[in-house]
Amino acid sequence: MGQSRLGVIGYPIKHSLSPVMHTSWFNKYKLDNRYEMLEVPPDTLKATVKKFRSPEWLGFNVTVPHKVAIFSLIDEVDEKAQLIGAVNTVINHGGKLTGTNTDGEGFIQSLLHAGFSLTDKVQALIIGAGGAARAVGFALAKSGIKRLDFTNRTQEKAEALSEVAKEFTASSALSLSQAEEGLADYQLVINATSVGMEPFPDHIPLSLRHVMPGTFCVDLIYKPLQTLWLKEADSKRCQTLNGLPMLVYQGALAFKHWFGNMPEVDGVETLLVEYLNGNKQE
Ligand SMILES: NC(=O)c1ccc[n+]([C@@H]2O[C@H](COP(=O)([O-])OP(=O)(O)OC[C@H]3O[C@@H](n4cnc5c(N)ncnc54)[C@H](OP(=O)(O)O)[C@@H]3O)[C@@H](O)[C@H]2O)c1
Repeated sequence: MGQSRLGVIGYPIKHSLSPVMHTSWFNKYKLDNRYEMLEVPPDTLKATVKKFRSPEWLGFNVTVPHKVAIFSLIDEVDEKAQLIGAVNTVINHGGKLTGTNTDGEGFIQSLLHAGFSLTDKVQALIIGAGGAARAVGFALAKSGIKRLDFTNRTQEKAEALSEVAKEFTASSALSLSQAEEGLADYQLVINATSVGMEPFPDHIPLSLRHVMPGTFCVDLIYKPLQTLWLKEADSKRCQTLNGLPMLVYQGALAFKHWFGNMPEVDGVETLLVEYLNGNKQE
């Protein structure tokens, strides 16, 4: 028996899309692997992580609320995860556990796949300053764009992210009203807050009153697939992207860490949409 087991740990974890996505790749590439969903309450995290050192485990994904707590329980955390301050993927090399984070690069790949060019002319704005904003923000800050600003309900958190981003590009922290007024300056605007997510889909994180037509608006949320904010962006003739492609690419990059190659991503989004639609009633 080789290293056959993979999984995701979180709490709670009922509706993770990762098993559907990874199992589709196992089937496609005829891999004899299994991807499990493991609900791990915080007080059992340490004991659970110990089990992942056994030879049958190839690695695992980590989701809320364990992305930070896992740091002290594994042997090595790579530079990407250190900078983001969160681990979402762990690889088991002969009992040694190494953590990384594929969210930021997953976002960048989803953006490029959607046809957005990250040039030195691009000015971008991130709404939010939580874990997703950190991952996406630092990857974007390092991508060679001209400027990356942050805005957030709690402005001090936006200031802290902007300070780190300044190591890589021009950056400021703005109040929500400053960001709203200045929207015409940005070619790329990203919602990295949870505002608009089910079960509260009737809210938007920032008014798009001043946005320019053609601006690329990305919402990291994928439940619902089209948030109220993306509908507003659509009505302003912006280009829009939901959070599902990022989810697929972060998963594909995790797969690459475990198996050595990037899997085919085409078709996976459709599969996940079908799955999400089939689970709407739950
Ligand atoms: N597509 C993907 O692959 C992917 C990956 C990761 C996350 N996400 C999505 O990204 C979103 C954020 O996740 P996260 O992990 O960053 O969460 P988080 O660390 O809890 O951060 C939440 C963010 O949302 C803001 N926020 C929450 N409630 C708010 C409200 N009522 N009004 C204004 N701002 C509010 C918070 O502002 P404060 O700082 O003021 O509290 C903070 O900026 C979620 O919807 C998640 O599903 C998507």
